[in-house]
Amino acid sequence: MRLLTIVLVVIAALNIVVAAPSNEAATTELPEEDHCDHKLTKSNKYLDYPFWKKFFKHLVPFTSSSRSKMQFFLFKRDFPDCGRELFANDDETLARSGFDARHPTRIIIHGWMSQGKGSLNRDVKTAYLSLTKPRPNDTDDAISEPKMMAPLYEDFNIIVCDWSKISSNVNYFGVAEMVEDLGYLLAEFVRYLHMRADLRFDDVYLIGHSLGAQIAGSAGKQIRPHRFNTIFALDPAGPAFREQSDEYRIDASDAHYVESIHTSIGLGFEQPVGHSSFYPNFGKDQKKCYVYGCSHKRAHDYFAESINSTKGFWGIRCERLSKKTWVLLDNDGEYRMGGEPSDPKNGTFYVKTYDKKPYAMGTIKAQAEASAQPERVTEVYH
Ligand SMILES: *[C@@H]1O[C@H](CO)[C@@H](O)[C@H](O)[C@H]1NC(C)=O
Ligand SMILES: *[C@@H]1O[C@H](CO)[C@@H](O)[C@H](O)[C@H]1NC(C)=O
Ligand SMILES: *[C@@H]1O[C@H](CO)[C@@H](O)[C@H](O)[C@H]1NC(C)=O
Repeated sequence: MRLLTIVLVVIAALNIVVAAPSNEAATTELPEEDHCDHKLTKSNKYLDYPFWKKFFKHLVPFTSSSRSKMQFFLFKRDFPDCGRELFANDDETLARSGFDARHPTRIIIHGWMSQGKGSLNRDVKTAYLSLTKPRPNDTDDAISEPKMMAPLYEDFNIIVCDWSKISSNVNYFGVAEMVEDLGYLLAEFVRYLHMRADLRFDDVYLIGHSLGAQIAGSAGKQIRPHRFNTIFALDPAGPAFREQSDEYRIDASDAHYVESIHTSIGLGFEQPVGHSSFYPNFGKDQKKCYVYGCSHKRAHDYFAESINSTKGFWGIRCERLSKKTWVLLDNDGEYRMGGEPSDPKNGTFYVKTYDKKPYAMGTIKAQAEASAQPERVTEVYH
């Protein structure tokens, strides 16, 4: 009995600590147009305070009230770092947000233990929005000043799906059980944008990392009879899903086109999922990755880079006979991994990358030409 009391007192004390007002709440009200619901710039603070608040909350029983909560933040060319929160069934906020169904919509879903402000969200969002800026004309000769060309895209609706209220729970298997519910919330939100803002399902890509990829798959199943255009599954989560049938994990039926990028074995899903599956560096350990989780995270580094890379990641078709035996079919052309827009194809592909940023090597053909280049230059100077 005494023990129980002590436990309850400790819980109560922790509760007070957890419930203490955060520094977020202390900011004063900004004018409407400067109002920031979700700041997504690189912070120099090591700790993401709101994330750790959620994390500790899960360690205290009875207090995780907001069980199935998912938030949505919109970013566009004109507000690239400052997300505006959207809510399913709030027409007024939607109308004021700047969401525009004429622009392609890209929804980013982070993974377990990931922070709503993590680098996946930041890098993928920034890479997409970089396509809305004027770009240098590479075909110009180096002597004249580089001329700028029109941007590739006018604008995007980049939506960051933040489910850190749940993903911050250390109990992975408990979190994995909620994938269906989270997929439902995401599908409901997209359906709402379709009904109230004329969003076309075919203009939507989902980009999910780890458990986020399983949530994307689940949303794809629950949006039927409609289909998303594309799902990019970045090292889809393996644990708790490997043993499941297609019905309970991401598969090719979840969108018109499903592409997966496999970069780790422990945390990732080893078998191909979807229409095409890419295995950078044979999909096991990524180059110069020495800490646990590094290879798993590398999937989104590659993907973010693929969006605005001029070289691009190009794979060759392969067959995996076993974990260690691969047959590379190198006379069948080269296939692009990731990128914008998506590039539908079928099969299993092997991609080689560099060991540091920028990781993309470009096509084998371009590499061969590049390595032949210096000789020609030398000739000119003779
Ligand atoms: C490409 O996107 C990254 C973010 O992933 C950004 O840091 C970089 O500046 C972008 N590159 C260009 C050329 O815009
Ligand atoms: C890029 O530069 C080349 C050479 O100056 C020019 O012929 C071409 O029209 C330019 N492209 C665009 C899209 O401006
Ligand atoms: C990939 O395969 C599916 C099913 O076999 C087919 O419907 C689709 O057209 C194929 N896509 C491409 C790009 O070959």
